[in-house]
Amino acid sequence: MARIIGGLTTSHIPAIGNAVPQEEVLKNDPYWEEFFAAYPPARAWLQKVKPDVAVVFYNDHGLNFFLDKMPTFAIGAAPVYKHADEGWGIPTIPPFQGDPELSWHVIESVAAEDFDLTTCQEMLVDHGFTVPMSLFWPNALYTGVKTIPVQINTVQHPLPSPARCFKLGQAIGRAIASYPEDLKIVVIGTGGLSHQLDGERAGFINKKFDLMCMEKLVSDPEALAKLTIHDLVREAGAQGAEFILWLAMRGAMLGKVTKIHSSYHIPISDTAMGMMVLESAAQV
Ligand code: DHB
Ligand code: FE
Repeated sequence: MARIIGGLTTSHIPAIGNAVPQEEVLKNDPYWEEFFAAYPPARAWLQKVKPDVAVVFYNDHGLNFFLDKMPTFAIGAAPVYKHADEGWGIPTIPPFQGDPELSWHVIESVAAEDFDLTTCQEMLVDHGFTVPMSLFWPNALYTGVKTIPVQINTVQHPLPSPARCFKLGQAIGRAIASYPEDLKIVVIGTGGLSHQLDGERAGFINKKFDLMCMEKLVSDPEALAKLTIHDLVREAGAQGAEFILWLAMRGAMLGKVTKIHSSYHIPISDTAMGMMVLESAAQV
């Protein structure tokens, strides 16, 4: 049977997309040092557990979907996902392998649980997907892992509630657990933590709230799922609402988790950068 062996989270700031190809130099630069120091333990963990598939909860930022057509939840069911630049000028990286058979199994299973997904047999992915993948698997090592993009709207209100995203994650977790192929799967949540890119509160960061979210993501995700979108926007900034992607990831892990590694650093660009590596209890 397929099983979720762990979960990863990371911010997905476009500036990182430009920095990653220069990591060897920038890891000694005072601005980037602490940021790049966060990732070797995650890469070492991935080398150890060797997942076959990554299910990536991310948000599109106007590349594949725009304000004219904005699905709340969209899932990839394509054999390949190409990266394109939605306007930040970051280098385009090699395509990602899909797993259409697993995608359709997940779609069937969550549809049977009354979730209405937009199914995408063609899908471009932006920095919300590509930056985390290139951080966790540098030098295009991600090409050895199949991927399933799960896109959640964090751009145009109304956004899905944290509770709904947590439940979608749980339904995806159950779908994976019922897949007959013997696959090791990691779930990834991208985006966050606190940031606001425009308006009167541009530059807003809330360290206390972020650290509370990182702690409760491990110990009590149900408490975080009780927050509203407006709580998230107030406490973490308009784009801090991307935390719903971390909650969906945590939902998919179903049971208890152990924290293997985490890092929090202010700021990268306008954002409080957070990353975590979680292992599913008794599943590795
Ligand atoms: C930044 C952060 C984001 O999450 C994003 O999607 C774009 C930009 C930033 O801090 O620059
Ligand atoms: Fe973002």
